[in-house]
Amino acid sequence: MKITRRTFIKRTLAGAAALIGLNAFGYTYARYMEPNMLAIRRHEIEHGKIPRHFHNFKVLQFSDTHVGFHYELDDLERLVEKINKEQADLILFTGDLVDEPHTYSFPPRLIQILKKLEAKHGKYWIYGNHDHGGYGTEKIREVMDQSGFQLLQNEHTLIGNGSASFALAGVDDIMLGQPDLERTLENVPVDSFTLLMVHEPDVALEYQHYPVDVQLSGHSHGGQVQVPFLGYLVTPPFAEHFVEGHYPLVNGFNLYVSRGIGTTRLPYRFMCRPEFSVFRLISTQ
Ligand SMILES: [Fe+2]
Repeated sequence: MKITRRTFIKRTLAGAAALIGLNAFGYTYARYMEPNMLAIRRHEIEHGKIPRHFHNFKVLQFSDTHVGFHYELDDLERLVEKINKEQADLILFTGDLVDEPHTYSFPPRLIQILKKLEAKHGKYWIYGNHDHGGYGTEKIREVMDQSGFQLLQNEHTLIGNGSASFALAGVDDIMLGQPDLERTLENVPVDSFTLLMVHEPDVALEYQHYPVDVQLSGHSHGGQVQVPFLGYLVTPPFAEHFVEGHYPLVNGFNLYVSRGIGTTRLPYRFMCRPEFSVFRLISTQ
C-alpha cells in the first residue's frame, strides 16, 4: 500500500498523540494512583526453633511511611485501620516515620493515630536513616514512645514468657546511627529463634554469618519505580543488592525486604505498590 505524504503525517501525529496520552496516563497513574494502592504481602516462616506456643503467631511489619512527603495523616489513619484489621500479635515498624524531621510540624494527631495500633504482644520499632537525619533522633523517639512503641536500638527483648519465647532484636540505623550487632545479640539464649530488624537490607551480606534466623528490612522502597525489562529505577545505598521480597541466604538465614508505605524524593510509584507484610510463624517442633 502506498503511503501518501498526508497519510504519513497523519499517522505520525496519531502515534505521537497516543504516546503523549500514554505518558500522561503513566504519569497520572504513577503519581496519583499506584502510591495509594496498598498491598499486603503475606509470608509463612517455618522453623524448627519456633516454639510450639508460637505456632500461627502473626508478626506484622510496616516501614518507611515518610509522613509529610505526599503522605498525610489521613493516609496514615487509613493505614492504621487496615493494619488493625489484621489483628497481629506483634507490630514492628522498621524506620523512616517522617520524611524530614527538621521541617515536619509534628501535630499531636500523629501520636493519636499511631497509638491506635494494637497488638497483643506489643509494638516495637527501629531507627531508619530519615529518623536520625535532620536532628530527628530525639523527636522521633518521643513520638514513638508516646505512641506505645518500644525502641530496639542495638538491643533485643524476649517475646513470650520464660517457658516459651523467641528473641526480637533491633540494630541502630546503618547509615546515620551506630549499629552494633554483637551488642544487640549479647545474651540471646542459645537456640532461641531470632528475628532481627535492620532498616537497610544490604547488611544481610554480613549479618547472615551471625546467629540470626530472620532479618526484616525496609529502606529500598522497592525501587519506587520499576521499568519493564530494565528493572529498578532508583535503589538507595544499602538497598542495592536486596530490593524487595524474600531472600534465603546462607546458614538458614532469611531476609525479607518490604517495599514500604510512602515515597521519598519523587512522589511516584510504578510497578511497585506500597505494602505492609504479615508473617505467620509455623512451628515444626
Ligand atoms: Fe525510607
